[in-house]
Amino acid sequence: MTLREIITVPDEVLRKKAHKVKVFDDNLRTLIDDMVETMRDAPGVGLAAPQIGVLEQIVVIEFGDEEDEEAPAKLYTVVNPEITRMYGDRVMGVEGCLSIPGIVGDVERSTSIVVKGQTRNGQNVKYKLNGWIARIFQHEVDHLTGVLFTDLAESIWQPAEDYVDNV
Ligand code: NI
Repeated sequence: MTLREIITVPDEVLRKKAHKVKVFDDNLRTLIDDMVETMRDAPGVGLAAPQIGVLEQIVVIEFGDEEDEEAPAKLYTVVNPEITRMYGDRVMGVEGCLSIPGIVGDVERSTSIVVKGQTRNGQNVKYKLNGWIARIFQHEVDHLTGVLFTDLAESIWQPAEDYVDNV
């Protein structure tokens, strides 16, 4: 596995649309492993392929259970993710992004989503998610169409300390 460089604004690659993955081979699986390693090293709780300069529809997310701090973080690696349903309340939450260091912002998101996609082996998967993990997925899937949280944020500021939940 290899650590990849995380691309930051204003690099134009962050504004481009990622392509659908059609070939599920060892190159894809190596790329996904590199993304997971890069996310953990950052550290962050999510990473989309365009953030390492790869315009393919891949996201990796690793996040623990909000209700149970003892529970181990769960790793999601989703290829061609598509949010097919957003429901529940729209709530504000503070987001940071590994590609926009030094700032955070208040972003309104749906509390619940259904996301469909494929595994690293091309098998179809579908997740129903609620709470912070649903927010992280919305943030990462936005990266695949060149949307950054700063486009959606109601307010943006510099946090006093390093923000740990960067995505
Ligand atoms: Ni981000």
